[in-house]
Amino acid sequence: MGDVDQETFSAVDEFISATVARGDDALDAALEAASAAGLPGIQVSPPQGKLLQLLVRLLGARSVLEFGTLGGYSSILMARALPGDGRLTTLEAKPEYAEVARESIERAGLGEKVEIRVGPALETLTRLEAEDAGPFDLVFIDADKVNTPNYFSWSLERTRPGGLIVADNVVRGGTLADPDGDEASQAQRRLHEAVAADRRVSATTIQTVGSKSYDGFLLALVEDA
Ligand code: SAH
Ligand code: DHB
Ligand code: MG
Repeated sequence: MGDVDQETFSAVDEFISATVARGDDALDAALEAASAAGLPGIQVSPPQGKLLQLLVRLLGARSVLEFGTLGGYSSILMARALPGDGRLTTLEAKPEYAEVARESIERAGLGEKVEIRVGPALETLTRLEAEDAGPFDLVFIDADKVNTPNYFSWSLERTRPGGLIVADNVVRGGTLADPDGDEASQAQRRLHEAVAADRRVSATTIQTVGSKSYDGFLLALVEDA
């Protein structure tokens, strides 16, 4: 174990991505379009994206909410797992990112299933509330990390019993364990404390390594009322 390093984590992710979590032309095209447009390469890794896709299927999800669209990579993976009448709503602050995502989602043949809402998520949530949006079967929180606790509590009110809330990037290189970490890390600590104290959910956090270095995600199952 002593000589296991980032190079190994990436090599293993490549092997997983070439075998059980293999992509295809539409996913490759989405990544290429994002990279060509100068978007940061911070999308979920192929193995993580495949997990999201499996979760959508396991839940039999018909309604998915995503915070943070970027170039649409995770949106495409999740939307593909939806049934014919399923819908994914994805929130993105940057119009220029949303435009790249829109084209890739369209190219993947998912234009009918995915709706991108442009603007800071906290503002969009007010509008979704006015539209009486939800309940959702799965929520994937992957936008600005300081607001993860806010997005979580909003989503908890609007996720059906038996539904799942997934929050990405909660371990943050291990700073989750540091009470004096930066603001984003402190937010993940508050999230964990709030989730632990809330009987409406049962949760765990899984630490991950891979092409995206050392991080992890929280999974919270919404209990029956
Ligand atoms: N889920 C994507 C990656 C998202 S990266 C994937 O795995 O493919 C995080 C995204 O959140 C970025 O595109 C960023 O612009 C967006 N973002 C940052 N702050 C936001 C906010 N306040 N509201 C909505 N989106 C935001
Ligand atoms: C960043 C955002 C992410 O969602 C992620 O998975 C990794 C990094 C970032 O903002 O740097
Ligand atoms: Mg992320």
